[in-house]
Amino acid sequence: MSVTSNGNKVIRRVEIRQPELGGDSVLVVGGGGREHAIVQKLRESARVGKIYAAPGNAGMDVIETGISATDIDGIVRFVESEPDIKLTVVAPDDPLAMGLVDELTKRGLRAFGPTRAAAKLEWSKAYAKDVMRRYGVPTAAYGTFTDANAAKEYIKGGNFPVVVKADGLALGKGVIICESADEACAAIDEIMSDKKFGEAGNKIVVEEFLRGYEVSLLTFVDGEHYSLMRTSCDHKRALDGDKGLNTGGMGAYAPCPVFTEELLEKTVATIVEPTVRAMISEGAPFKGVLYFGLMVSGDDVRVLEYNARFGDPETQSVLPLLESDLYEIMNATIDGTLDKLDIKWSDKKSVNVVLASGGYPVSYKKGLPISGLESVDDGVNVYFAGVKKRDGDAMLVTNGGRVLCVQALADDFATAREAVYANIQKISFDGCFYRKDIGKNL
Ligand code: AMP
Ligand code: GLY
Repeated sequence: MSVTSNGNKVIRRVEIRQPELGGDSVLVVGGGGREHAIVQKLRESARVGKIYAAPGNAGMDVIETGISATDIDGIVRFVESEPDIKLTVVAPDDPLAMGLVDELTKRGLRAFGPTRAAAKLEWSKAYAKDVMRRYGVPTAAYGTFTDANAAKEYIKGGNFPVVVKADGLALGKGVIICESADEACAAIDEIMSDKKFGEAGNKIVVEEFLRGYEVSLLTFVDGEHYSLMRTSCDHKRALDGDKGLNTGGMGAYAPCPVFTEELLEKTVATIVEPTVRAMISEGAPFKGVLYFGLMVSGDDVRVLEYNARFGDPETQSVLPLLESDLYEIMNATIDGTLDKLDIKWSDKKSVNVVLASGGYPVSYKKGLPISGLESVDDGVNVYFAGVKKRDGDAMLVTNGGRVLCVQALADDFATAREAVYANIQKISFDGCFYRKDIGKNL
């Protein structure tokens, strides 16, 4: 157990492996709850020693390098200067899109994540849609446009709602659901003329609105072979009952019980395998985590989006269910040997709930002291995101909108939920809010 000077237990459940015990050093790029969950799972590997993060956060109990996740040159220089680092795990979308994995790989450094060309499945929605069309992967009908007038012409006479999307990365905010032609034209202008999402809006996708429920399916892919993780369900809206503004995610549960084995088999045959094969044909084999954002209606499953990475906050529910060695899986993914592994997952149920700062996702205070962490039960995980240590002492204070998440496993969802919500009561900071309905009625 490691205890910070303000008495907060930072690591529960897993003893921190001291660097002098040896093992490979690893650099994790990113600094949110997802990265904390990755770090914690890597620590369970007997082969992992020191863990660095770029930038990391004060709650992760890693060696914070202070290097930003998008400082590609800085990260490359750092890895070159630390020969003990045997693996760099690139978790967020931006450095993947900027080609961090390519830069590391061409210097003979091992990196987990797709190349820039393969990550295009995420950083260009138009490319993703074209791949789906070319290789027959089911998705919503669509058009792509670089000209606003052509886009407006396309929506005329169509059905509503219609979905207007910026092509590029827009922090998950570049999607606008429009109930009428007027709304759609306004959305097109906002994205293409007013450049609400900057260069990400130089091109847009206009697509059919799909009804149903959403499921996230994350898969390890080594170029040729793939291995499915447990399914999960994200909660993007700020308030209970999927009300309020869109956020970076307010909690998740795994697995997703309504998504049956039959649906999973169908998804593998019609979506997962064709996509993995498509990327080989595209000359950009995908290596890393391929995230399928699915819309399900009856037995119809279609792709809403691909992400080229672990999802946040899905990862904070999914990775605790992994019983095999994540370090070994990541290495097999790089080496193209995933088929040699027998990856084991727990049959337990996992729930995680995000504690956010009052006013998120619009505006919120920072620097609010977080108390009660030392009382969290063993076996319950706290994954930190927007936190830092207060200047002058080591008190953990808020430093972002999504501050931390609390996660628990149990044989059933009700027990996992009880553990999460009981432990949330022990943690406090001014203005803290969270959804009360994550994993309810499952
Ligand atoms: P995306 O970034 O493309 O996944 O879009 C973000 C969110 O917008 C999705 O998780 C859905 O909730 C919603 N969304 C995107 N595309 C559609 C669609 N064609 N029909 C209905 N909802 C959509
Ligand atoms: N949870 C959605 C994402 O990670 O993009």
